[in-house]
Amino acid sequence: MADLPDHSFETALVSQLSQPVTRLLGRPLHFFDTIDSTNTSAARLAREDAAEGTVVIADAQTGGKGRLGRSWVSPPGVNLYLSVILRPRKPASAAPQLSLLASVAVAETIVQQTQLVPSIKWPNDVLVSGKKVCGILTEMQANGPQLRSVIVGIGVNINAPLASFPEELQDRASSLFLMRGEPVDRAAFAVSLLTHLEKLYVLWLEKGFPVVGAAWEGYASELLGKSITVTVPEGIISGTVHGIDRDGALLVESVSPEGQARPSPRVQRILAGDVTVVDGYRKTDPVN
Ligand code: BTN
Repeated sequence: MADLPDHSFETALVSQLSQPVTRLLGRPLHFFDTIDSTNTSAARLAREDAAEGTVVIADAQTGGKGRLGRSWVSPPGVNLYLSVILRPRKPASAAPQLSLLASVAVAETIVQQTQLVPSIKWPNDVLVSGKKVCGILTEMQANGPQLRSVIVGIGVNINAPLASFPEELQDRASSLFLMRGEPVDRAAFAVSLLTHLEKLYVLWLEKGFPVVGAAWEGYASELLGKSITVTVPEGIISGTVHGIDRDGALLVESVSPEGQARPSPRVQRILAGDVTVVDGYRKTDPVN
């Protein structure tokens, strides 16, 4: 007989969200045992005029989507796959700021729920002890220059055992369980994440990006001032990280290539790409 789905995650989520922990996010919440991708489902709901704050959560994804056309490994029973529909009255150019905002919310939740020490790799990978435990995929729908909706999709490796990661990812990805040595309550983590996300979203709407950007930089200390290479569609850029600007773009000071009489440093704004830290990420004790 096939295994029956375990509904304890959904039951705990619904019960915790019946308390007024959030005002906007998770109201309503759509839960699926298995879905292709929570982002695809949320985008469909957004096109059908679903309300801001609508959340889609699944226990497993069969077609989890990652950044840059990659896939996101999404086994059942262990992790968190969640997408939120937001409808900020902002220009389309502000959408990437929400990815950075979401990574801060995840980092804050990891601190609160696990006492692990997270760091953020631009734009929005959340790492613990140098290994990726969370990825964020933000997709938008726009009406001309104005945002119509933004889907913030968050995948957190919560209780995944090492064997659930494909072999080629095992030295780069991990889960909170593997880092902490004991399981993490998925429902409590999800509700705490929605709470942090809502707080930061309201702050962003009221005060703009700088406050969120400062919080982001607080988690990105392993990147600031470091030598990195960034793979962008046009090639590879090498330089030193200066921080992020008001739009959330990464500022990298690069030296013009050899061949010039006097190489001149220049700061480049990078809007999308894959960052590699030249000396690698710190691999010290992950626990506070
Ligand atoms: C990345 O490549 O780092 C981004 C991964 C984003 C994965 C999450 S899981 C929930 C949501 N649904 C998806 O299909 N993708 C995002």
